[in-house]
Amino acid sequence: MNLKEPTPLPAFSKIPTIAPWPDLFGNTHPLELELGMGRAYYLFERARAALSHNIVGIEYKEAFVKQANAKKKREAINNLHAIFGHAWTLVPALFEAETLSNITVNFPDPWWKKRHQKRRIINPDFLGILVSKLQIGGTLFLQTDVSALFESYLQIFKEHPALDCSLHPQGLLLDNPMQAQSHREKKCLEFGIPIYRALVIKK
Ligand SMILES: C[S@@+](CC[C@H](N)C(=O)[O-])C[C@H]1O[C@@H](n2cnc3c(N)ncnc32)[C@H](O)[C@@H]1O
Repeated sequence: MNLKEPTPLPAFSKIPTIAPWPDLFGNTHPLELELGMGRAYYLFERARAALSHNIVGIEYKEAFVKQANAKKKREAINNLHAIFGHAWTLVPALFEAETLSNITVNFPDPWWKKRHQKRRIINPDFLGILVSKLQIGGTLFLQTDVSALFESYLQIFKEHPALDCSLHPQGLLLDNPMQAQSHREKKCLEFGIPIYRALVIKK
């Protein structure tokens, strides 16, 4: 018999076992999510700025997740949790419908080459999943220093019928409203690189 071994899933496609969020955090505070948290600067600053919110970060580079959870333990921060995995598989599996008060995407990878663009973290299908997880009135915040990427994401947001993009119709949001800056954001501010920001609301 020539039975082929099934191709193993990449580690970042596996769904970790996680207690329900109220059990994990020990409260039912508003739940926020950051996708592609990288070095987790935003995650920690946001957790400190919003002590009565719980902040979850997803990242598919495992070292960043291990570092973030070790730092969380060291500094006894109770309103933050980092998860290793691919956002496309984790978000549908780990969050109930209409439970997130905010989703933030800081400086997503642009995936410049045309054949790689399908890897961009947000596409219309995944945006549909993200919006389904947001509470009514919940916000989706995205920032990037790549203007073409920003335009294409803004277009996807505007095409979603449940998103209200009228607050900043051209995405002309000068300041980051989250009181927390990501690693890339700090670099852009340091070197005077323009940042494009969108804040949209679930209707
Ligand atoms: C350009 S970096 C920005 C990191 C951080 N947000 C910042 O602003 O400094 C994008 C990050 O998103 C992560 N990432 C990209 N696509 C992802 C996905 N589908 N699931 C989880 N992480 C992802 C990458 O590994 C990388 O760390």
